[in-house]
Amino acid sequence: MTPRSVLNRPRGTTATGLGPYPPARMQNLKGLILSGGAGTRLRPITHTSAKQLVPVANKPVLFYGIEALVAAGVTEIGIVIAPETGGEIREAVGDGSALGASVTYIPQEAPLGLAHAVLTAEEFLGDSPFVMYLGDNLLRDGITDLVAAFREHEPEALIMLTRVPEPQHYGVAELDGNRVVRLVEKPSEPPSDLALVGVYMFKPSVFAAAKAIDPSPRGELEITDTIQRLIDEGAKVEHHLVKGWWKDTGQLADMLEANRLVLEDIVPVNDGELIDSTVEGRVRIAAGARVERTAIRGPAVIGAGARIADAYIGPYTAIGEGCELVGSEIEHSILLRGAKVRNLASRMEASLLGRDVSVTSSDGLPKTIRMMVGDSSELTLP
Ligand code: TTP
Repeated sequence: MTPRSVLNRPRGTTATGLGPYPPARMQNLKGLILSGGAGTRLRPITHTSAKQLVPVANKPVLFYGIEALVAAGVTEIGIVIAPETGGEIREAVGDGSALGASVTYIPQEAPLGLAHAVLTAEEFLGDSPFVMYLGDNLLRDGITDLVAAFREHEPEALIMLTRVPEPQHYGVAELDGNRVVRLVEKPSEPPSDLALVGVYMFKPSVFAAAKAIDPSPRGELEITDTIQRLIDEGAKVEHHLVKGWWKDTGQLADMLEANRLVLEDIVPVNDGELIDSTVEGRVRIAAGARVERTAIRGPAVIGAGARIADAYIGPYTAIGEGCELVGSEIEHSILLRGAKVRNLASRMEASLLGRDVSVTSSDGLPKTIRMMVGDSSELTLP
């Protein structure tokens, strides 16, 4: 029997009246977030931690992705994890209920490519169409429009594209109207300025296509080759243009840029303690943080329990939980939980400090540099 609430509802709306009513066969749309990978470009952070858990404006990158899926009505989410970092991701996300999702973890034995990750998730995805979201990607305006376009047109695959100034560094799409006719990886002569963004939508036909391709020269099963295969078989592959900004946070400069972009939009709140300090612009200070004799120029965020004294915090800075910043100046940087910066002679900028990292200037003479620095760290000294 059809429930009354459905009968009384105008066509094309949900019970809440907030969104499009999905056609029956699209109702079981699932989400797949890729949160494995090697993360070589973000070493040394990724020696000990998952890059998807690096905080942007003090919230792990991965959480933005989960929230984007949930906001688009996709709550049944599989997260692909790597053996090295899967435990940490499970601990941070749990069953997903705190974010409004129901999460299933899908271990991938090795980072053998995005299409390999899709095949690893075949059992979880079953015969559902699904959104695939790269766990280190951030999209300002989410994916609600993309999901709506997929539900409306029901293509075999839908890819997200954005205009970029230097397409030769990206996967690039060649279009014929709304149809995608060719995908090329890092082309020396790009057919367009439309680069692939880390969000895709597929129907179960993607599994056969992924099984039919060979690994690329770098030894991975590529999602671009999989989509090209679908196109070559005559499947309808459409595109959707991203409206707001998009960032792949796979390397330091992009991570800092994502932090800057997210901080631009924060709502200022002060739940901490400000003593003899000045605050300009958008600044969010969490409960239990204590700021003394310090000038803060936002946008910036300061995490719970942080201790800041005799310092300057400049724009685009995210200071994590329990950090310490004393007698030092910092801007356009990210400090992870428990990092400490004391008495630096120069302003720190464009830096990412891992958990519990300590950077201190020695007093007096001789003026020496002393370090204990992990593998693949990068230091630039004055
Ligand atoms: P990438 O950033 O393309 O790959 P990577 O994580 O191995 O990083 P690097 O190139 O610096 O070594 O991956 C995009 C996202 O997909 C990221 O969140 C990791 C995830 N991923 C998987 O889950 N499984 C895989 O096999 C690969 C290659 C990536």
